[in-house]
Amino acid sequence: MKDSLILAGIEKRYGDAVALQATDLEIKAGEFVTLLGPSGSGKTTILMSIAGFVPPSAGRILLDGQDVTGLPPERRNFGVVFQGYALFPHLTVNDNVGFPLRARGIRGADAQRKIDAVLDMAQLRAFARRLPRQLSGGQQQRVALARALVFEPELLLLDEPLSALDRALRKDFQAEFKAIHRQVGTTFIYVTHDQEEALTMSDRIVILDRGRILQSAPPSELYERPATEFVARFLGKSNFLRGRITRVADGMADLQCPALTSRVSVGRQDALAIGANAVAALRPEKVKLQRSEAPADGCSATGQVADITYLGSVIDVTLALADGTTLAATIPAGALALSEGETLVASWAPDAAILVEPDVERGA
Ligand SMILES: Nc1ncnc2c1ncn2[C@@H]1O[C@H](COP(=O)(O)OP(=O)(O)O)[C@@H](O)[C@H]1O
Ligand SMILES: [Mg+2]
Repeated sequence: MKDSLILAGIEKRYGDAVALQATDLEIKAGEFVTLLGPSGSGKTTILMSIAGFVPPSAGRILLDGQDVTGLPPERRNFGVVFQGYALFPHLTVNDNVGFPLRARGIRGADAQRKIDAVLDMAQLRAFARRLPRQLSGGQQQRVALARALVFEPELLLLDEPLSALDRALRKDFQAEFKAIHRQVGTTFIYVTHDQEEALTMSDRIVILDRGRILQSAPPSELYERPATEFVARFLGKSNFLRGRITRVADGMADLQCPALTSRVSVGRQDALAIGANAVAALRPEKVKLQRSEAPADGCSATGQVADITYLGSVIDVTLALADGTTLAATIPAGALALSEGETLVASWAPDAAILVEPDVERGA
């Protein structure tokens, strides 16, 4: 496929420390892919390797079938918007944006046409004669984006470009990045530790933890079918039902927990043995609450209302179960008049809970 990017066994070590374990990743031309993970999980290391600023300790990087592993950054022709990848303070917006063109020997009317086009796209035309210090943080970020796009790169690499901006501005930018991505059709590889940012913008999210990829999938699939406990926890809120498998058939299993029994979707956890310990993720918004008896299919639990939090259109309810664990439910506001301490029955559809790979002990 044209311009697909392939990371084959890319690995990065600093002395004995492993920043990135052997990683395989394929990114299709035109995709908007987000690398999402906590601080130190290896996101920047992957992006810097792709950009050519960090030489991998092992593995290869292929662009459109060509090995680019040894190419210096300037010969990869990728646009970059990195944290602290600062604008030139003494150049106007117009000249900052035109810099990559001059570096490529593109000058005159040809260059100005390209500059004007990206300035328009980034809504910066009115600021073309200003210096960076005469711009707000958001406007400076737009200049950095325009500068990275002006030479029509095959790939745009963005490392937490919005982290310095306030929340309202970040939201505006998320919509803008999405629109610009649609308009230019360039592959975007975006790094963030912000789940909401990742969910809003991406065609696909790659979840990283401690230098390895845990799961790579479109946002809805990651949310609905998390492969691991970490993924379910990192992307949204989840209950975790912990118990033993008592039956497996047709992609479903029965999970016997101390305070409840649930049918669960097997998800990606194939080799399941009867009697094995297992963990299922259950999103709070899939839990229904009622005062009457539990439904017959057995996916239910009885508990006391321990906490009620009003969030406008929805209410977060915490139920205390008989074994001392809790179950979170998010229900529409006004669905049920609730009071703390009352006994309620929680229930969910048989396929609402999904088995996930348990967290391994997090070492030092
Ligand atoms: N130049 C370096 N020297 C030593 N360790 C590094 C260096 N750069 C990154 N690391 C380590 O590699 C790991 C991954 O870092 P990084 O890719 O920057 O994570 P992220 O961008 O997800 O926060 C971290 O443990 C970090 O401390
Ligand atoms: Mg980083």
